[in-house]
Amino acid sequence: MNILITGGNGYIGSHTYVSLREQFPHAQLVIADNLSNSTVKALDNLKKIVQEEILFHNIDICHEEILEDLFSKHNFDAIIHFAGFKAVGESVDNPLKYYNNNLIGTLNLVKLCLKYDVKKFVFSSSATVYGDRVSPIVESLELLPTSNPYGETKAMCERILMDVAAINPEFSVSILRYFNPVGAHESGMIGEAANGMPNNLMPYITKVAKGELRALNVFGGDYPTIDGTGVRDYIHVMDLAEGHAAALAHLKPGTHIYNLGTGKGTSVLQLVDTFQRVNGVRIPYEIVGRRNGDLASVFADVSKAERELQWQAKRTIECMCRDAWNFEKNYVLI
Ligand code: WQD
Repeated sequence: MNILITGGNGYIGSHTYVSLREQFPHAQLVIADNLSNSTVKALDNLKKIVQEEILFHNIDICHEEILEDLFSKHNFDAIIHFAGFKAVGESVDNPLKYYNNNLIGTLNLVKLCLKYDVKKFVFSSSATVYGDRVSPIVESLELLPTSNPYGETKAMCERILMDVAAINPEFSVSILRYFNPVGAHESGMIGEAANGMPNNLMPYITKVAKGELRALNVFGGDYPTIDGTGVRDYIHVMDLAEGHAAALAHLKPGTHIYNLGTGKGTSVLQLVDTFQRVNGVRIPYEIVGRRNGDLASVFADVSKAERELQWQAKRTIECMCRDAWNFEKNYVLI
């Protein structure tokens, strides 16, 4: 099987490459990535993990002609589509950048899939598409408008895929809605390399642990949760990666949507406590005002993926904290 992994050098993409190699040892894996949010060092480390040369193309999937050249050279059977901008705050400040990049890239891929008879498509989506919902969240919910353009681009891409699958009976689509991916490969060689100020909680914690940032600002201590801080469904990135391999292995015609999470909620302070305990480091923090757009509690109903993909997240919060710290300690800016 020939598989194209767009954004395959990024955080989720590189970990998924490792899982795809394990699940499909004879597959030809091709990465298309424009290195807008990853580095050549990460690619070198990925090669060391999988012990193979990697078919890597430094291309922007928004350039249709260049992307078509890749399709014409490889007889792809499947696409795993990660490539896209994903910073919620940045999408609010620069919506056109997000609509242009995330939509054009997906439209180009889908057009070329139909032209070159590529029948399998796994799409990297996000729990953000649900908007403000009561948890646990199930896939059958009607999507609500999200509080940011990033989330809207994910919902639009999902809609494009659903409509195309509806009139192309053999086109098989799996839409994977991630909750909160954290952690890193056990080797510590690949992980969430946040260049500059991190947006998400775990990379912020690891930079505080490393002494690069003074203290963690806890956004809100007055939510209706176990300790007043925000609750999220953190999932180890390797569990998420294995979810993609399972989705590809179980793909069938039509559109199939799955939550990829653990089904459990963890608060900010619970995560901080676990991180300190597991890693023997202190995380100074200060509870400040709420962040705009944040929800109190978000976690998944994961029964559909368990039932239909025979997949379940199995790594613990302790493991996520240990692996995230292990990567941060090894990570040096290139
Ligand atoms: C988690 C919790 C914050 C930082 C976002 C995107 C989502 C997905 C994952 C792409 C919240 C609190 C955070 C900090 C804090 N990305 N927090 N101090 O907002 O749940 O989801 O990332 O698909 O689309 O929306 O993740 O890690 O930013 O926040 O207190 O410095 O940590 O309030 O409760 P979020 P997050």
